[in-house]
This record gives sequence, structure tokens and C-alpha cells, in this order.
Amino acid sequence: MHESALTPGDSARYDSRFASRAAGIVSSVMRDLMSLAERPDIISLAGGFPNTESFGREMFDEVVEVLARDHLAAALQYGPTEGLLELRERIVEVMAHDGARAGVDDIMVTSGGQQAIDLSIRTFVNPGDTILAEGPTYPGAVPCFTTYEARVEHIPMDGDGLRVDLVEEALARLAAEGRPPKLLYTIPNFHNPGGVTMSLERRERLIEIAHEHELLIVEDNPYGQIRFEGEPLPTLWELDEGAGWVIYLSTFSKILSPGARVGWVAAPAAVLRKMNLGKQAADLCSSTISQRFVIEYMRRYDWRDYVGRLNDIYRSRRDALLRALEEEMPPEAAWTRPEGGLFVWATLPSYLDTTHLLASAVEKHQVAFVPGRGAYLDGRGGDSMRLNFSGVPEAVLSEGVRRLGLAVAEMTDLHRALGGDIP
Ligand SMILES: Cc1ncc(COP(=O)(O)O)c(C=O)c1O
Repeated sequence: MHESALTPGDSARYDSRFASRAAGIVSSVMRDLMSLAERPDIISLAGGFPNTESFGREMFDEVVEVLARDHLAAALQYGPTEGLLELRERIVEVMAHDGARAGVDDIMVTSGGQQAIDLSIRTFVNPGDTILAEGPTYPGAVPCFTTYEARVEHIPMDGDGLRVDLVEEALARLAAEGRPPKLLYTIPNFHNPGGVTMSLERRERLIEIAHEHELLIVEDNPYGQIRFEGEPLPTLWELDEGAGWVIYLSTFSKILSPGARVGWVAAPAAVLRKMNLGKQAADLCSSTISQRFVIEYMRRYDWRDYVGRLNDIYRSRRDALLRALEEEMPPEAAWTRPEGGLFVWATLPSYLDTTHLLASAVEKHQVAFVPGRGAYLDGRGGDSMRLNFSGVPEAVLSEGVRRLGLAVAEMTDLHRALGGDIP
């Protein structure tokens, strides 16, 4: 047998063979932090975990029982790439509830919302192509953007969501540079990680811009139903009125179970055909067991009741997090006050770097968060962090933020001791 100097454990053995898309892929910081959630001594505000503990055991038993009794062979079988028809019918209902009218033929089931993002980028982006995304953007989308070697231009947000006026500016600048963006990826409702929602006025203006400039929009809407206050706003999909400039993504992860890994995309027929081919390459079809589970659950229960219960829990948890931040954070810190979703985005004084802060927060104070840099592809976000409230009970949230406050105070003292200015 040929003896190589390098063992299978040495990355150098493979480095010259890795494709450029594998060499340049950047991990989602969120995923890296996932293991911390398993350490019992750590309070993790880093995860994006929905509260799956409120899903009743009897509901689960009943659904699984019916699945086994009436649909076992089909549930264990391959299914169509576009997903089971009855599930797509249910998705049409869920979308209608979100104010997004679609027909079953507009929809393809995906393996979570994550695959819907992957397929959208894979279908449109060549290496080096420019895309627009909010800054910060969804940390889980970062590996999709880097896998397909996209150049991401971040567009800032404020309290009313994406700065749509800056989208126009970016379009003009990028056109002049000869690299018009292939698409805009946006999360209008309860942004992850930004915690803000795009105003109605901006939604309308964004659709006007899309129509004027033929800008393709990928609207990622996993949180539309996770609203604890305020009135729902129309989706970009709906405002587009079938003009074909919006691709709509969503998921059952936040309204039912992320473990089911069932999401979907709604798109114009020509786009859906290409995405279908991409999905054939990726996984042939989404799990039929999971699709059946969702169908049988939705046949028997009103999913809106369950979401209503979740939203009551999340509202109290959000309030607990906001109260604790008020008590523990320095006066120069700022944070969003989301009307829904799972996250608060906090910005600390710029002399604090949250990537460094995380190391001491975890090791010395046993608390974790997502550092802001994980939500940017251009190195920004160093003064910010994402805090999750959905997966952590109120008392634990308060304790977590108390620990975070200690870590922040310590780092501020260190900065002062090193002669740094503190305004
Ligand atoms: C904005 C956004 N898109 C997509 C996803 C992925 O959804 P799924 O868990 O269904 O893959 C998430 C999950 O947190 C998300 O926040």
C-alpha cells in the first residue's frame, strides 16, 4: 500500500483538491455555537430554538398513530420532488393566513427553510455575482452565500427595517460598476437577527423599485405568524401581484417543529422548474415521513391555536429579556424591541468587541450569544450581538443577562485600564 506522509486527519492532504466553493465556505457562527447549548453550565442566548416543549404529547401520539395505521407504506416511500399534494394544499392555507395568495402549483416543499435559501442562491448566483442583503443578515444564510461565491452588499436597516432608499442608491452604484445584483435577499418580518419589521411604506416602495429596475427579491418569511403585538403587514409576494419579481420562502419550523425539517418555496413557474432540478440534485425529495406528519397534524388540529400559545410564551420571554437588558446593560447600549420573532439585536459601545466578549462571557460567566460579525460578510458587526428569547424561560433569561452585564462591565474596565476613552 502507498504510504502518504499525511494522514486522513491532515487537512493539507486535501487542500489542493477542495473546490473553490468548499475552500471559501464560511461556517454559520450560529451552528458553531450550537454545541454550547448542550453544556448544562452555560445559559445560551445564542440558539434560535422555538419552544418545542409546548407541543402536547397526546397530539404527537395521535398523529404518529394515524401515520402508522393508515399511511405507513407511503410514508416510508420516496415522494415527488415538489412535495406531497396535500401538503402543498395546506401550505396554500398557511400562506393565505400570512396574506400571500398562491396556488398549489406555485409551491415546492423543501427540507426546511434553509434548503429554500440554498436553492434560491444556487439557482441564480454564479461565482462573483453580486447580491444584496440586509446588514446584518441571517447568519444561517452566510454559508449559502459563500458556497456559491456571492459578493454580498449589505444594505443597512433602521427601526422600519431595510433602508429601501439605500437599495436604490446601491442599484445605481452597482450598475455603474457593471455588476448589477442578481437578487435581493430580505427578511421583512421580525428580522433574524435584526428584530425589526419592514414598514408598509417601505414594502410598497421596494416593490415599485423591483418593478422599475427588474430586481428579483427573495422574501424569507419564517416569522410572519410569530407576532405578539401589532397588525400583520402584507407580504412582498402579495404586493408584487403576480408580476414575478418575488420568490417567497417559509417553513413549518417556527409554527410547528424545526425537527420536522419541512419548509417551502413559492415562485414563478420558470423559476420553480429550475429549483426543482436543484432539489433533485440535492436530495430527490423532502422526507415523506415528515411531510405526512405535518399533513396529519394539520388535518386534526388548528395550527393557529398552537402558534397562539407559542406567541403568549414568547411575549412574556421577550418582555423578560427587555427588562433584564434595561437593568444590566450600560446606558450607551441600544437594542431592538421586536413585536414578534425570536430575537433582539443589541449594539454595545463601539470600544467593545462582541467576538472577544463572547470568549470571556462563555468561559468566565457561562453565558453565550451570537456575536454580530456572524451576520455580516464584510467584517462589520463587531459591536453587536444577537440574543434569543424564545428558547429560554424568564428566570433563566434574567440570569443570563445578569451574567452578560458582568462580562460587559469587566471588558469596559479593561478598556479603561488600557487607557481607552469612554464617552
Ligand atoms: C430567516 C431564516 N430563514 C431560514 C431559516 C431556516 O429555517 P429552517 O429551520 O426551516 O431550515 C431560519 C431559521 O432560523 C431563519 O431565521
